[in-house]
Amino acid sequence: MENFDWKNLPFGYIKTDYNVRCFYKNGKWSDLEVSTSEYIDIHIAATGLHYGQEAFEGLKAYMGKDGKIRLFRWEENAKRLLFSAEGINMAQLPVDKFREAVYKVVSLNKKFIPPYGSGATLYIRPLLYGSGAEVGVKPAKEYTFIVFVTPVGPYFKGGIKPVNMLICRDYDRAAPKGTGVFKVGGNYAASLRAGMAAKEAGYASSIFLDAREKKYIDECGPANFFGIKDNTYITPKSESILNSITNMSLIEVAGSLGIKSERRQVPVEELSEFTETGACGTAAVISPIAKIFDPEKNKTYEYCKDGKPGPVTMKLYNRLVSIQYGDEPDDYGWISIVE
Ligand code: PLP
Ligand code: COI
Repeated sequence: MENFDWKNLPFGYIKTDYNVRCFYKNGKWSDLEVSTSEYIDIHIAATGLHYGQEAFEGLKAYMGKDGKIRLFRWEENAKRLLFSAEGINMAQLPVDKFREAVYKVVSLNKKFIPPYGSGATLYIRPLLYGSGAEVGVKPAKEYTFIVFVTPVGPYFKGGIKPVNMLICRDYDRAAPKGTGVFKVGGNYAASLRAGMAAKEAGYASSIFLDAREKKYIDECGPANFFGIKDNTYITPKSESILNSITNMSLIEVAGSLGIKSERRQVPVEELSEFTETGACGTAAVISPIAKIFDPEKNKTYEYCKDGKPGPVTMKLYNRLVSIQYGDEPDDYGWISIVE
């Protein structure tokens, strides 16, 4: 698309030409339908509206230097959607259907894929919700699956520019053994007050702690947390965080770069031992953290004192992004090409 300011795109919604949809009824999924409407017709008693039967995914299409369109680990998103659907008793969307929908919506909206080198990408948002009517609290019998796309810039302003984060002690996003491991809308509703409070205080995001003891780091708003010390990538293990596909990939990338990794509980005090910290996710990619403020202890943990991301963060970022754009060979089988 001409006259489009790709370099300054926010992480927001921009209308594209098409979205795709399919419907689950009488135990069967329909064929995919292509739509040009940004709206849906929804039953007033749909469980997605009342009882939070809704799950979504987020992945990206990257335009390579070679003009090829790449998807990153879409199968993992398809599997996580199955897991989320199971977690809140929704119909299971077959992986093949997910693939067909994602490929179709990307190829129909090719002109919205930001050019190589712009720093922007095409964000793909699949969503699944209970569309059948119920008034009692029970799972719907009918479901709707939609995939839309929108070109986006970096989630945290400045891309790889370090941001500040605020430890949240007033709210929890998810309970232990609750829905935190599923990518369901309710978790994001529960995170809004914390997110807004952090933003109003001038921080890019809140950092949630484990809800039971408030001792360990859970995650950074809509991204996982990592810290670096002694050439080791350390990321929280918790039963209330989303298992990030980016994080999982960074652990493998770290291994190939000779960086060790650990997935374990991360006590808040350990923040003083890290030499670098960051947030990672599809939307965030890697967002280095400059400062973390803990209001209870009135303590600020500082990284990147020179305003630049640390060396390990940069190595991981460069490697991951090079694979996603096809600048470096994909030794892992993570990339699929959309024709
Ligand atoms: N944590 C939360 C709560 C998220 O919403 C996301 C985004 O999907 C992530 C972490 C990062 O996950 P992924 O790397 O799979 O995008
Ligand atoms: C993602 O990283 O894909 C997310 O879903 C983050 C957020 C926009 C919810």
